[in-house]
Amino acid sequence: MIIGILNIKGGVGKTTTAMALATAASRDGGAVTVVDTDPQGSATLWEQASQDNSAPLPFPVVSRNKAEIRRMRSNRPDSNGEIIFIDCPPNGDVISETIKTSDFVIIPSTASPIDLQQTMATCEACQDAGTDYAVLIVMARRGTSALASFRHTIEESGAGIFDTEIPLRESIKNTFGYAFRSNLSGYEDAWNELKEAVK
Ligand SMILES: Nc1ncnc2c1ncn2[C@@H]1O[C@H](COP(=O)(O)OP(=O)(O)OP(=O)(O)O)[C@@H](O)[C@H]1O
Ligand SMILES: [Mg+2]
Repeated sequence: MIIGILNIKGGVGKTTTAMALATAASRDGGAVTVVDTDPQGSATLWEQASQDNSAPLPFPVVSRNKAEIRRMRSNRPDSNGEIIFIDCPPNGDVISETIKTSDFVIIPSTASPIDLQQTMATCEACQDAGTDYAVLIVMARRGTSALASFRHTIEESGAGIFDTEIPLRESIKNTFGYAFRSNLSGYEDAWNELKEAVK
């Protein structure tokens, strides 16, 4: 199974989501790989730092370019049952290649009105490509009107959205460069929802 994690908005938690969901999937017993397609290489840096910090990740991180992502459509490196999470940059052709290659796309977004337009545009790109997708609200501040209003707008548009919301947590931010601790702060629920969605 190939899961794309993308949004044309930058800094919305794509890399964090890729690493946390890959952790949940690997704790579930599956073979997991994170594919880093971002020239900034944040997922790769995370993996390298986790080795330096003696807190290695339970899955490999590999780097691939847009041609290699396109080729995965015929290669199917997941044919052995592996779960592949593709972490995308916020811009470039690799986004549309990943949408076409993925079985399912997760669109992380904060509930901020400033993210809405680009999150909706990303939903449309998935819709146009015929790829199933759902928005995952991250860095959520429980009980705020922005959160309720963002969810309402996405639901009204007919786009898919996870019931799970990932809270804003310093502990999540501070996990960069380390393996996640036992508590995945809601990402285990998102993983369970994802498994249902791709059944
Ligand atoms: N749930 C959270 N709570 C607190 N901080 C978070 C949370 N999720 C992500 N962050 C922080 O937000 C910042 C952006 O996250 P991240 O790098 O995952 O986003 P991105 O979408 O991959 O960014 P880019 O577009 O640059 O690739 C990072 O500092 C990260 O640690
Ligand atoms: Mg990133």
